[in-house]
Amino acid sequence: MDAPAFSMPGVRPTAPAPAAQASAPADDGARSVAQVLAQTQVEQVLAELDHDLVGLGPVKARIRDIAALLVIDRLRANLGLASQAPSLHMSFTGHPGTGKTTVALRMAQILHRLGQVRQGHLVAVTRDDLVGQYIGHTAPKTREVLKRAMGGVLFIDEAYYLYRPENERDYGQEAIEILLQVMENQRADLVVILAGYHERMATFFQSNPGLSSRIAHHLDFPDYQVDELQAISQSMLTQQNYRFSEAAAAAFRQYLERRLQQPHFANARSVRNALDRARLRQASRLFAERGRELDRDALCTLEAQDILASRVFRAGQPSAAPL
Ligand SMILES: Nc1ncnc2c1ncn2[C@@H]1O[C@H](COP(=O)(O)OP(=O)(O)OP(=O)(O)O)[C@@H](O)[C@H]1O
Ligand SMILES: [Mg+2]
Repeated sequence: MDAPAFSMPGVRPTAPAPAAQASAPADDGARSVAQVLAQTQVEQVLAELDHDLVGLGPVKARIRDIAALLVIDRLRANLGLASQAPSLHMSFTGHPGTGKTTVALRMAQILHRLGQVRQGHLVAVTRDDLVGQYIGHTAPKTREVLKRAMGGVLFIDEAYYLYRPENERDYGQEAIEILLQVMENQRADLVVILAGYHERMATFFQSNPGLSSRIAHHLDFPDYQVDELQAISQSMLTQQNYRFSEAAAAAFRQYLERRLQQPHFANARSVRNALDRARLRQASRLFAERGRELDRDALCTLEAQDILASRVFRAGQPSAAPL
């Protein structure tokens, strides 16, 4: 499947999946979980989620639970049992780089395959996309974003910026009210995911009980352990056709242990950035060897020196920018 390369804010439509219907479909004949799974091919997305993303055990378990609920709902609907559109709005809390945006993209696919949203695209926004600067600008902005997101998932990053209690006449409140209405009335056509850091999100929900009560699923993204970060680095390198030499792998582990102690550590995002810089150093190193014939191995291998040249290893610069 597509690598979830993704820049924000923006719209990124995902490829249409087969057999997806928006509103509760008529009896499609499925009577067993296996039949629904075969019809929707949702198992495949769940397997990819498991395989592509390192760690995140609790998050993956919650997603399986949600998928199970939706599969059973579908079987119930097939037998004509009363069912209301399940509330699927969610909050994703966690530190930077813990995989929130990546998982939201997968979630959109799962919801699409299970027929909960018509298109399964994800529209990622922040406050500035929803809230205007002047009176009368917010409602049209918010409605425009909602229109784009209809039939998919609206992902609001750092959602707490919508609410600024210090500013009595803040237009964010207007956006929240419109959102609330749509979250309640158009549940069958739009899933909203509010994302951000735990503590701020908790305060935000306390101040906005209306929003909080409409969120059915709270998913908490833990920080990664060093082993997980190392595994993430391996998986990122494999995707890009690179590899660590044995010494480079050991050096990268040391890098992680040091980098974790420093400010602005951003989990998997920091891993990605560190690898980008290591590739840059590898390129400079190879560039300097003008006459050398470079075989696949040379072009694909990051050596220890490509890691150890990082500023993280320089003594006496604990708080320097981690280059
Ligand atoms: N568990 C994981 N396994 C492999 N790669 C991961 C994992 N989690 C995150 N990544 C990668 O790390 C990068 C950052 O992830 P992502 O953007 O999803 O994090 P985020 O929680 O949304 O961060 P932010 O709060 O900074 O927006 C992405 O390139 C993503 O592919
Ligand atoms: Mg993100």
